[in-house]
Amino acid sequence: MDFKQQVANTLASVLGETLELAQIEKLIETPKTSDLGDYAFPTFILAKSLHKAPQQIAQDLVAEIDATDFEKVVATGPYINFFLDKAAFSDQILKTVLTEMSNYGQSDLGQGGNVPIDMSSPNIAKPISMGHLRSTVIGNSIAKILTKVGYQPIKINHLGDWGTQFGKLIVAYKKWGSEEAVREDPITNLLKYYVKFHQEDVEHPELDDEARAWFRKLEGGDEEATELWSWFRSESLKEFQKIYDMLDVKFDSYNGEAFYNDKMDTVVNAIESKGLLQESRGAEIVDLTAYNLNPALIRKSDGATLYMTRDLAAAMYRHDTYHFVQSLYVVGGEQREHFSQLKAVLKEMGNDWSDDIHHIPFGLITQGGKKLSTRSGRVILLEEVLNDAVKLAGQQIESKNPDLPNKAEVAKQVGIGAVIFHDLKNDRLDNFDFNLEEVVRFEGETGPYVQYTNARAQSILRKANQEVVADDQLVVADSNAWDVLKMLNNFPNVIVRASKEYEPSVIAKYALRLAKVFNKYYANSKILADDDQRNARLALVKSVSTVLETALDLLGVQAPKEM
Ligand code: ARG
Repeated sequence: MDFKQQVANTLASVLGETLELAQIEKLIETPKTSDLGDYAFPTFILAKSLHKAPQQIAQDLVAEIDATDFEKVVATGPYINFFLDKAAFSDQILKTVLTEMSNYGQSDLGQGGNVPIDMSSPNIAKPISMGHLRSTVIGNSIAKILTKVGYQPIKINHLGDWGTQFGKLIVAYKKWGSEEAVREDPITNLLKYYVKFHQEDVEHPELDDEARAWFRKLEGGDEEATELWSWFRSESLKEFQKIYDMLDVKFDSYNGEAFYNDKMDTVVNAIESKGLLQESRGAEIVDLTAYNLNPALIRKSDGATLYMTRDLAAAMYRHDTYHFVQSLYVVGGEQREHFSQLKAVLKEMGNDWSDDIHHIPFGLITQGGKKLSTRSGRVILLEEVLNDAVKLAGQQIESKNPDLPNKAEVAKQVGIGAVIFHDLKNDRLDNFDFNLEEVVRFEGETGPYVQYTNARAQSILRKANQEVVADDQLVVADSNAWDVLKMLNNFPNVIVRASKEYEPSVIAKYALRLAKVFNKYYANSKILADDDQRNARLALVKSVSTVLETALDLLGVQAPKEM
């Protein structure tokens, strides 16, 4: 039940024509402290039309208002303060959660509209970076949030599997590589060849000509080139897959840059036929001065296409294939200009749907305040980070709960959940520091803290050993419970906000707050006492657990029942 709506309706019934319902809703505030009630309505706006002082208006309206559905309605200076009927509120919200369970918070805002989400998108033959990790977990969470509000996300891994670097890689592999080494450890060795290529080509510029020739062959479908490329790709994907499995992230499509190779001419022709293609120092560009942007590079002087060309083809393909209502790109903030250019070129071509394309940027992960460096070879390997987190979680479990069954499985859920949660609890755009010890702590603002709170709720329910029934009056009346109930009631709004802002941190912060108010309730009440509110209190515990589990699921974090 929407209690704010109830307040708005009550006000509308006494305000008549003076103010419209929608306007009333907008004006309603949530007071800072609970002694001012649950909702407040400022009367200043009415002073002019009613020719009265706001204080007087508040008093007069309170006298008129039918307060039977509220605990009380009072005038405080120029404000009208509404105190909700706590018993009715408690009963309603707990019944709602217990009947809807994991569906609680679901809505049909998106009406089934398709939303392709370009996410993760690492580059073949290179290590998956912390930036790709961010894109993966943010994209995955946005997909879950959008599903919850009724959209149909399509998770696309736009692999970096095309471009002149593959010409270089083929040359390097043929000169210095071995099949065994690539099979053994594809990413490390392919990266090594690539780095060696760049060391050698300083003195042997002819290597670059060879590389260009090989990429041209690849673009033309040459058998040997295609075979090598496809092998590098599948070996790299096997490595990436390990990480996706650990994170439990699945994709609907792995159409990477190469997928658009045969769709490039159509795009370039379309740009040309609109008269947008210009020569600039041998290359072909689209001028974007009108947008205050640098020109978009469409084709190099040797005819090779570029990152931008492939993104243009991908955008058009997604539009034609999915008829999207929004098209999202979860890619680091350093590619801001690229996506502005992409949208501008599409717009210039006359595609109004370019307005539905949204770049979802995010900040950097730092260590000790410094940007993680990817200088020759010194990259943080993501697999190692995740394994370390699992190890650390395992140690904590060992010391806290040594008899826990399936310890190894829980350590995985906690360790990996901790890394994901840490990534998602910060505002997307903020840079944040990564310190493994901090991330896996069981106290403080961490994923394990939320998981632990849920496991505690589950353990109470196990101990209670009774079916929680929803046909009883579910009234939990004490002030610590009140904060919990109000937060439970807020969950659907929180999900909607997260979906509109593409901001998983809204969910993560909510989960932290709910865990905190629940722990306060837990510390101050005898949940298992044998009185006539026992079922209602257990209903509250079960509702909290349900909502915490749903919130964690929306973040892509697992919720062990015991830890
Ligand atoms: N592969 C690119 C990189 O690692 C990211 C691709 C993002 N997606 C896109 N459609 N451009 O930087």
